[in-house]
Amino acid sequence: MVLVTGGAGYIGSHTCIALDEAGFDFVVFDNLCNSSQESLKRVEKIINKKIKFIEGDIRSKEDMQKVFTTYKIDSVIHFAGLKAVGESVELPLKYYDNNINGTLVLLDVMKEYKCKKIVFSSSATVYGDPHTTPIKEDFPLSCTNPYGRTKLFIEEILRDVYRADNDFKIVLLRYFNPVGAHESGTIGEDPNGKPNNLMPFIAQTAVGKREFLSVFGDDYDTVDGTGVRDYIHVVDLAQGHVNSLQKIAALDSVLTVNLGTGNGYSVLEMVSAFEKASGKKVAYKIAPRREGDIAACFADPSYAKEVLQWQATKELNEMCEDSWRWQSNNPNGYSS
Ligand code: NAD
Ligand code: UD1
Repeated sequence: MVLVTGGAGYIGSHTCIALDEAGFDFVVFDNLCNSSQESLKRVEKIINKKIKFIEGDIRSKEDMQKVFTTYKIDSVIHFAGLKAVGESVELPLKYYDNNINGTLVLLDVMKEYKCKKIVFSSSATVYGDPHTTPIKEDFPLSCTNPYGRTKLFIEEILRDVYRADNDFKIVLLRYFNPVGAHESGTIGEDPNGKPNNLMPFIAQTAVGKREFLSVFGDDYDTVDGTGVRDYIHVVDLAQGHVNSLQKIAALDSVLTVNLGTGNGYSVLEMVSAFEKASGKKVAYKIAPRREGDIAACFADPSYAKEVLQWQATKELNEMCEDSWRWQSNNPNGYSS
């Protein structure tokens, strides 16, 4: 049985479908602080199966023990965490407590129940401002905000756990920019309040919830001056977790892998791709650069292909079409 912490969230809910398709039995554990059970209800419709769900907090040893006592957990996919960069600057202790302390409690209980396989959601944010692109896994690591530091610290903690006990099997997945939604249009990204990330902001502008997109800077050294990122379809990303689980038992060291497409698109390229896919106009205004942003960030995805036999399959038009289907069918997300 696979434990999916944070499984009611954006990436977790899509991963539940991929796990089911690959024949894995799983249980979702989530405190619903940034999600609702509605996502899982919709996943149940897609997979035509009831999902095992336990509501609880990864920081609570009792909650975690309940999961491991109720089910025989063989491996963990650890999505649970807070992810808003701006909020992490305002409330660093909240992020260190939730993400780091939560992971420590999870690892402690995993040890207690002799469960030693874990796939962790890291982020391309651990590369800081990369000296060049595309980014390879052995590039220097750094970070500029508490959220990023939680990812970097947890990576280090997991490496120490492996050093102390080589029976641990650990995969660190560094996601680039997840976008898109399941093709049914029934599950997707449902940010609280004003979105920080580009794709949900574009989608909400197209659907009429936002007046215009602020393009943060047009004087970067990129194709058109706007920031370039590696957008990856969430369904491809979900599959990366399944491939990781299929390989994890054979690992003899901590596996660290980029999950990206290898293609970089600028903000203005994203706007025009979304307009094409949705048939809607996306109004935008050029605004000052956002603090902490970098010019360009995209993956060298070759290692994922080599070690996980994984590569992204979905192109930008599919990412935009699927985001639009989710957004237009659910203008207010899961509360629509
Ligand atoms: P999300 O907020 O949609 O999902 C995270 C889930 O974890 C939510 O359902 C939330 O309720 C749950 N959660 C948070 N703290 C918890 C706690 N203490 N106990 C139990 N459950 C808790 O986010 P997502 O986009 O699906 O991201 C999943 C993971 O991937 C996160 O760790 C995030 O940092 C990481 N990540 C996300 C992105 C991205 O752009 N979405 C990029 C890189 C890495
Ligand atoms: C953000 C996070 C990063 C996280 C990543 C993936 C910040 C500072 N960084 O990075 O930690 O790992 O998401 O989840 O939040 N943009 C606009 N207008 C907007 C929103 C974004 O022009 O309203 C631009 C940005 O300047 C950037 C690009 O769009 O060039 C993508 O932005 P975003 O979706 O926030 O992702 P990242 O900046 O990669």
